[in-house]
Amino acid sequence: MKVLIASSEIVPFAKTGGLADVTGALSKALRRIGVEADCVLPLYRSVDRGRFPMQPAGTPVRVPLGHREEAGAVEETDAGGGVRAFLVRNDRYFDREFLYGTRDGDYADNCERFTFFCRAVMEWLVRTGRKYDILHCNDWQTALIPAYTKTLYSREEAIRSAATVFTIHNLGYQGLFWNHDLPLTGLGWELFTPQGLEFYGKLNLMKAGLVFADILSTVSPTYSREIQTPEYGHGLEGVLYERREDLYGIINGIDDDEWNPSTDRLIAAPFSREDRSGKEACRADLLAEFGWRGPVAEPVIGMVGRLTAQKGLDLLSEIGEWLARQPVRVVLLGFGERAYEESMAILGAKYPDRISVRLAYDERIAHKIEAGADIFLMPSRYEPCGLNQIYSLKYGTVPIVRRTGGLADTVIDADEDPQRGTGFVFAGYDAGELSDAVSRAIAAYADRARWNGIVRRAMEMDFSWAPSAREYAALYEKALRKRGR
Ligand code: ADP
Ligand code: GLC
Repeated sequence: MKVLIASSEIVPFAKTGGLADVTGALSKALRRIGVEADCVLPLYRSVDRGRFPMQPAGTPVRVPLGHREEAGAVEETDAGGGVRAFLVRNDRYFDREFLYGTRDGDYADNCERFTFFCRAVMEWLVRTGRKYDILHCNDWQTALIPAYTKTLYSREEAIRSAATVFTIHNLGYQGLFWNHDLPLTGLGWELFTPQGLEFYGKLNLMKAGLVFADILSTVSPTYSREIQTPEYGHGLEGVLYERREDLYGIINGIDDDEWNPSTDRLIAAPFSREDRSGKEACRADLLAEFGWRGPVAEPVIGMVGRLTAQKGLDLLSEIGEWLARQPVRVVLLGFGERAYEESMAILGAKYPDRISVRLAYDERIAHKIEAGADIFLMPSRYEPCGLNQIYSLKYGTVPIVRRTGGLADTVIDADEDPQRGTGFVFAGYDAGELSDAVSRAIAAYADRARWNGIVRRAMEMDFSWAPSAREYAALYEKALRKRGR
């Protein structure tokens, strides 16, 4: 079976968050179980062309955009693990400093940029005659591909028999644009209805995937249920409920080549389930990185993430003053919305002995935090899957999470289930419940024997990609059956 994974970010080429980790690792994991997976993404400025030499993949394409045409080229390179990566080039759209926008907001032409990307992929497939059994699209930036497959390109030989799978990584980002952008896509106004791409008078690109893909999935079983409710559906709960028979939840794996404490070259010392002694050196190194010297007896709480409302930054701000009075050290690495960056910086400046904040996107420090912290904090308002809590489990860093989405599916509360517990879980999006969970973790940390048990169980969990890759392969089969193949 041949699968093309389309995504706006894919490791090792471009990344702002977990979407890139997942699409990169899934392609490789599929290859390992014998599925011929390739991937396609835009050719951004940040792609390292020294490390990944590009060569043309067919002749340039002409992409209709409204009443005009835009030229594009597709280049290819080796993504490793047997995966071919195809990168869609148009420097006007993608040769920019960031992927989607600056700190102050999205690029104004994002609808045009990603419409171009989707249609360039279609034109390239048609022109080269490359046939994939499955077009696996991810999030709104690639959601027009399933719509094109069923409409403008449905008769093309290269497309006709392809089935489409659309994976939701985050329903909070839907690609909402004003309706005047519809003609850009080339789709007709007959699709601009509540059953189609309309969303309260606007154009909703995510809906193109939700309505037209043969099979839908999201990145954890709990999130697949949550998004059918008003609390988590971001207004799309009705559409998702309608398609519930075709909607599956598959938990993300993690890439063992990138995130493994026994081989990780970004951390101070390797360690493993069997021999955790290196973790102490990682802890000292982390404390030094954040400006603290000397022995620190209290637990170190780490946090890494995009600074957005999704990640529970409001709750963290609410308990900030309280947290600074607890016997803990807090290290935070984050990058994102200006208001949250400012409130975190203020907290760090006010309590330099307790809270240290680094406002940056820095993979090296992300690894140091996962390896060196004792506790990892992830109080998300919603979390489709979440990777950081899984990295934490693997690195023996006990997670405190809210019971939602993938967090609920990966962490077991150590007070509720002392035999199996791997972390601390709270239910309501509530500052009192969060501070209670932090207190429970601090108390457990003081009991070394108990803490060691929690860490050991966390590190014993298996989040390798193989089982999830097999689930995706089964979904692809289902999608093909829906197309009568
Ligand atoms: P999301 O995709 O919603 O951002 P995930 O937990 O799925 O959340 O994935 C986040 C990924 O991005 C992880 O690999 C994490 O290490 C990385 N990441 C997030 N923020 C930063 C940062 N400031 N510096 C380095 N890596 C980061
Ligand atoms: C999204 C989600 C995150 C998930 C990631 C990869 O960015 O916010 O929860 O882990 O996609 O699927």
